[in-house]
Amino acid sequence: MQKVFKTFLVIMGIFGFIIGAEESFITTLEYGKMLYTNPRGIGCVECHGRFGEGQQIANYTHKRKDLSLQGPRINNLSLKHFENALQKGKKIMPKYYLTANEIEAIYKYLESIETPQNTEE
Ligand code: HEC
Repeated sequence: MQKVFKTFLVIMGIFGFIIGAEESFITTLEYGKMLYTNPRGIGCVECHGRFGEGQQIANYTHKRKDLSLQGPRINNLSLKHFENALQKGKKIMPKYYLTANEIEAIYKYLESIETPQNTEE
């Protein structure tokens, strides 16, 4: 009898695990956030800012001129433009080989978050 009860508990445990896993499935926006902050190792966020508002990547001097490398603002583009840029690759921006779904998830994520009025701290 006890054995049956134990087997029952094990089965319920497995069942609970499956249900738990089901619940932890992420939404498109969460997926977009994950991709934006850490797609395949290097995050868009490092060059385009937390809200896609754009930011300075680096300052450097070239032929005695002070130059700076800028990650452009990307939270105000059309989906088409956004997709094109990612599929073509842009100068120093790494090419990611994201799928159309992944690009759309990132786009939706950027759309969903509000850029604070004052981003300069
Ligand atoms: C190493 C820094 C860097 C990373 C990381 C990076 N980008 Fe970029 N991105 C740039 C730079 C610099 C440009 C502008 C290139 C140019 O002017 O040709 C750019 C351009 C773009 C553009 C086109 C903007 C426009 O106005 O046409 C989009 C869209 C974009 N990036 C999205 C992303 C997304 C999404 C990710 C993550 C998957 C990402 N970038 C990761 C540096 C980066």
